[in-house]
Amino acid sequence: MAGDPPFLKGYLFLMTDFAALNLLSPILSALHHAGYTQPTPIQAQAIPHLQSGRDLLGIAQTGTGKTAAFALPILDRLGRRQARSRPGHARALILAPTRELASQIDASFAAYGARMQLSRALVFGGVNQHSQVRAMVRGVDLLVATPGRLLDLMGQGVISLERLEVFVLDEADRMLDMGFIHDIHKVIAKLPPTRQTLLFSATMPKEIASLAESLLQNPVRVEVAPTSTTVDRVEQKVYLVEKGHKILLLKDVLQNQTVRQALVFTRTKHGADRLADTLGAAGVEVSAIHGNKSQNAREAALNGFRNGRLRVLVATDIAARGLDVPGVSHVINFDLPNEPESYVHRIGRTARAGRDGMAISFCDTSERGFLRDIERTIRCSVRIDAEHPYHSGAAEALPAKSGPTPTKGKAKSKTAKPPATVGAAEPVTCSLPTATRRTPQPKPQEVQTKPPLAGPDAPATRRQQASSSFPAATRHTPQPKPQAVQAKARLAAPDASAVRRQQASSSLPTATRHIPQPKPQAVQTKARLAGPDAPATRRQQASPTLLAAPLRPARLPRQRKGGAKPLTAQK
Ligand SMILES: Nc1ncnc2c1ncn2[C@@H]1O[C@H](COP(=O)(O)OP(=O)(O)OP(=O)(O)O)[C@@H](O)[C@H]1O
Ligand SMILES: [Mg+2]
Repeated sequence: MAGDPPFLKGYLFLMTDFAALNLLSPILSALHHAGYTQPTPIQAQAIPHLQSGRDLLGIAQTGTGKTAAFALPILDRLGRRQARSRPGHARALILAPTRELASQIDASFAAYGARMQLSRALVFGGVNQHSQVRAMVRGVDLLVATPGRLLDLMGQGVISLERLEVFVLDEADRMLDMGFIHDIHKVIAKLPPTRQTLLFSATMPKEIASLAESLLQNPVRVEVAPTSTTVDRVEQKVYLVEKGHKILLLKDVLQNQTVRQALVFTRTKHGADRLADTLGAAGVEVSAIHGNKSQNAREAALNGFRNGRLRVLVATDIAARGLDVPGVSHVINFDLPNEPESYVHRIGRTARAGRDGMAISFCDTSERGFLRDIERTIRCSVRIDAEHPYHSGAAEALPAKSGPTPTKGKAKSKTAKPPATVGAAEPVTCSLPTATRRTPQPKPQEVQTKPPLAGPDAPATRRQQASSSFPAATRHTPQPKPQAVQAKARLAAPDASAVRRQQASSSLPTATRHIPQPKPQAVQTKARLAGPDAPATRRQQASPTLLAAPLRPARLPRQRKGGAKPLTAQK
């Protein structure tokens, strides 16, 4: 694969707008139409590398625009090198773990590529294959698929990947987890050796990272925020509750009219149906979505939720990854997930694209260990809120050890980590100002390859940068606690403007930084746009700060040990 253009090497590369990314004009015009004014950090950092042909692993928080980070350079590449599609062939393949996400990604390509003449096909199971076969007859530029049906159609000779130019795994860690890895291996075996491979996710557990790296050649790692970082604008809290009181508690929560739209997660499909029935009987506009529903029922439920007809959608983890429903004000974990990464993705269904959101997790006595595992993974502790009518003293009295709290017949957490070392520092509370959060120290190799960090607060600073993905005007700014004020004072004077604060917090020498100054009319536009329904234009004012580093050399692939319950592989 080609190397980076010289202007990228070792320098901070900042964009003030999409035009600076040198994208084809039909793409720019589609972005303008969509109301995007500035690239988010993952877009600003990833797109130039992708345009230069590099393989890439992109890690950025939920809801920060990873889809466009891969879709725009793919459209740009295919648009520049127009080639006749051959019957049955695809030029770019994007794989996603669920049909709904595949469909959403295809819709994003349709929107960003609306002014281009590129052909697309969307391939997933649960529906008749006729239209998919027809779409492939003449070959396509863009193919978005779930692995099962793709392999079916490849087996039938309907689809060939021999001439593929770009291969993308969205939600890469899920795609490389046990539920999908066998299918992914089969797909990869059919890809040409010379191709561009892109992996994107908000999480990348260590066990999967080495396998991921082995799929890439001379890759760049763009990590806008440390893996599994939750978005600061999600206010996270836990309600300790007896298992038998969870439904009453949920009904109580839904009484609150600030809960405009809630996505409620249960552990099982059966549990999702039961809960939806109970809420429906209580007069809530609700539906359920999970893998046992027909594709029609799944689509009807998601569409009803998207268009606001349903106030509540009860879902299994099938809806945890990637789905972008702007109206979701609350995510409620009716059951805590036993896989910490699922928590990150579930709560990431709210507070997207610069909006605020709330995540409430119900935790019974058997789930205290799951909570502990989650807190270790996200590196902050979720505030326990006892101000509700069903607070469980029994759950509070339990020591929070990793893994499930042993009770009769309960499944064990497959990803449980060893208990904390005695005396280890407790993580700080989630959703506090980022400067007070504990963040992991970069590994030695990363230190070498990343731009120098600025002093002892540097990791927190990186987090601060990462949280500035969308305009400050639309962000919920928690009131700083006294110690947070102190921490911030080290970063910037109290009267500094947002831009100056950003400048002060940047980890790179100022000489190499370009700080976009808001244009007068842009400021005006933003002021009008603070509400949750604000179009994307107003939501978006990226403070692009870049931390791109070459990946460590690939290690031998290793299957994730006892990974969490995989999503059913999608046909
Ligand atoms: N540059 C931009 N300007 C304004 N809005 C944007 C921009 N890029 C993306 N968005 C919007 O942000 C929202 C989230 O984008 P996207 O779904 O790509 O996030 P993601 O990072 O893939 O999240 P997840 O990890 O949950 O999959 C979408 O509604 C999208 O339209
Ligand atoms: Mg996504």
